[in-house]
Amino acid sequence: MAFNKSNLNEKIDELKPKFIERLRSAVEIPSVSGDESLRPQVVKTAEFLQKELIALGAQDIELRELGTQPPPVANKDLQLPPIVLSRFGKDPSKKTVLVYGHYDVQPAALEDGWNSDPFKLVEKNGVLYGRGSSDDKGPVIGWLNAIQAHKELGLELPVNLITVFEGMEESGSLGLDELIKKEANGYFKGVDAVTISDNYWLGTEKPVLTYGLRGVNYYEIEVSGPNADLHSGLFGGIVSEPLNDLVKLLANLVDGQGKILIKGIDEQVAPLTEKEDKIYDDIEFDVKVLNDATGSETALYNDKKSILQHRWRYPSLSIHGIEGAFAEAGAKTVIPAKVKGKFSIRTVPNIESNKLTELVIKHVEEHFATLKSPNQLKVGLIHDGDYWLSDPFNENFTAARKATKAVWGIEPDLTREGGSIPITLTFEKELKTSVLLLPIGRGDDGAHSTNEKLDLSNYIEGVKTQSAYLHYYAQGEK
Ligand code: BES
Ligand code: MN
Ligand code: MN
Repeated sequence: MAFNKSNLNEKIDELKPKFIERLRSAVEIPSVSGDESLRPQVVKTAEFLQKELIALGAQDIELRELGTQPPPVANKDLQLPPIVLSRFGKDPSKKTVLVYGHYDVQPAALEDGWNSDPFKLVEKNGVLYGRGSSDDKGPVIGWLNAIQAHKELGLELPVNLITVFEGMEESGSLGLDELIKKEANGYFKGVDAVTISDNYWLGTEKPVLTYGLRGVNYYEIEVSGPNADLHSGLFGGIVSEPLNDLVKLLANLVDGQGKILIKGIDEQVAPLTEKEDKIYDDIEFDVKVLNDATGSETALYNDKKSILQHRWRYPSLSIHGIEGAFAEAGAKTVIPAKVKGKFSIRTVPNIESNKLTELVIKHVEEHFATLKSPNQLKVGLIHDGDYWLSDPFNENFTAARKATKAVWGIEPDLTREGGSIPITLTFEKELKTSVLLLPIGRGDDGAHSTNEKLDLSNYIEGVKTQSAYLHYYAQGEK
């Protein structure tokens, strides 16, 4: 049967209740990759996807094991969650599209300020609330929905489709690099294009296609001293306190204006050309979008260009937290014996990860030396993921542009993003192919935040966009 957009879109509309139920089942499993105790739930989500893929008629379905999780980890035998591989079709006359997404999520708890249980999908006023609804279970399930719509219509998929769903993205995609390298000429042989639905529109109204991401290097500074936590009444003033050292080290990483204080990084950042500077003029964005997203007036810049450039093309350093420090309510008079400060640096062209790590370690060690502390210092990289920058006018993007126009009636903006999907560059390099970021959700979805949501219209029109993209891509030259 030939591609008939309106048939397909009608079928997608008709299946809406089923698509919501499918997402509900996925959201109900708390697959938090960063919480070791929830690892069985992450695995359960992989099994859920496997079951769905079987029902949809996928071939070569595998839950590919990646071995144990490397340190730092409390349980040394902790297994990484599996990669869910599957394929729909292997017709040599068709092009092959690989779709990637992640089934793990960020932590969430009702007490953080959610209006409903984060692990129950709640539909309210045309919005679906729940952890992972937008990042990234909704978009992952979107691909399955697109396949189901084709199946129920008796419409052949226009391309060979390979799915790669991982359960460790929110924790640095551990183990996936190796799998892609290993399978470049195996499972992934013949892949013509890679598409990732794992980011968001810039605002709330206009669809976008995304051609760049920042990378991220995540670091930990450990300061330890006494053998055990101490009473501050008995030992305060007479021992050197690790947390005292650590806050000084953390305070010396970035200033209040967001300027990174580590020397040698700025020199690695690609200079801004006049041509690039102009691109920002035409992007639809307003400071208000930023303030709405944060629910505050805490922006460091108040013009569109500076905001977008500092999100997309300049590095940033964020301090995330301190492990081992007293963090509960109340007033505990403790001197923590060992504390670990966590921070990350978002990287951009042309920062090299190894060079950056050298600079970071040198900076922290030199500063620690000036403290003349008897405590022990350890500083190191926990994980890194590369930045990525592509050509938004290749065949893959062209197909997505046509699909977006067909579904939303408007040409998408071309954006870069400040977040990271560590595996993007690996796909591009190892499969020697182009990667496209085709977002489904909106800029205000609250990924990683409380009350994460996906508008029902984005979910359903997103399935239409994903479907149409496959057809437009198939129509291009093989
Ligand atoms: N979906 C995000 C990536 C993203 C965020 C893209 C914002 C575009 C805009 C992804 O799930 C994510 O959160 N990635 C982590 C990766 C990290 C843990 C290595 C991130 O960016 O912090
Ligand atoms: Mn994501
Ligand atoms: Mn995320």
